[in-house]
Amino acid sequence: MTNTQIISGKDIATHLLETKLVPRVNTLKEKGITPKLVVILVGDHPASASYVRQKEKFADKCGIIAETWRYEAEVTEKKILEEIERINKDKEIHGVIVQLPLPDHISIQKVLNTIHPSKDVDGFTPNNIGELFLGEPTLQCCTPKGIITMIKESGHELSGKNVTVIGRSNIVGKPVAMLALNESATVTICHSRTKNLNEHLEKSDIIIVAVGIPEFLKGDQIPAGAVVIDVGIHRKDDGKLCGDVEFESAVEVAGAISPVPGGVGPMTVYSLIENTIESAERN
Ligand code: GUN
Repeated sequence: MTNTQIISGKDIATHLLETKLVPRVNTLKEKGITPKLVVILVGDHPASASYVRQKEKFADKCGIIAETWRYEAEVTEKKILEEIERINKDKEIHGVIVQLPLPDHISIQKVLNTIHPSKDVDGFTPNNIGELFLGEPTLQCCTPKGIITMIKESGHELSGKNVTVIGRSNIVGKPVAMLALNESATVTICHSRTKNLNEHLEKSDIIIVAVGIPEFLKGDQIPAGAVVIDVGIHRKDDGKLCGDVEFESAVEVAGAISPVPGGVGPMTVYSLIENTIESAERN
């Protein structure tokens, strides 16, 4: 038995939905505004379909509108860009996301460059990423924003702490490192080419793991009492879900750990809905 704190993103998201988001939506509705999100879903990627359902469900609980616009995998890039242009002009729509991955014939960069930054509730456009790096208020990428929220909501400070991020993707590793830095943490970014990873981990107070490798980080690499945030999600051969952290060994040494499922995933969805409400408030 350990008394490691389990950081339930699911419980935090539910609590914040009730106490923070629903009152904001009610205030908007009193002014005649119902926040509306459009999700563009191309093709039939099974994981995407499941993520989109979670987003729709959370939006519904919050009292906002979420519409999924579905397109066949063969849809042209031109058609998707036209749809985004149409959404950019539609005053009733406050946020749009294009669910990734996209088929190879559609350029993610072109798609992101077409979304108006004020409706970019995923926080993926160059403009919003730039604002995030500058520490200016903006629509922040959902997973990084959700991670910072869950660390704070579970009672952990970031200021002055040694935060190690494992992974350097544009949608998690890089932006979460920057958000932690903006919270006055001392940040180290490690990745697949990092030498002596364990030496970097030794002094860590908080470890954020987003490498995309099942059960990559083991308990014996974690300093006693560290906070461990697991961003990965994978399906094992036995059908069970796991993260980028080997939970059974990590839970024995960590001071706090986020589980998979029920950790970062619900916080990503929470941040998306929060961003949609923020966008509606700004307009
Ligand atoms: N695919 C996996 N995660 C995400 C996400 O956060 N946003 C979008 N648009 N697609 C994803």
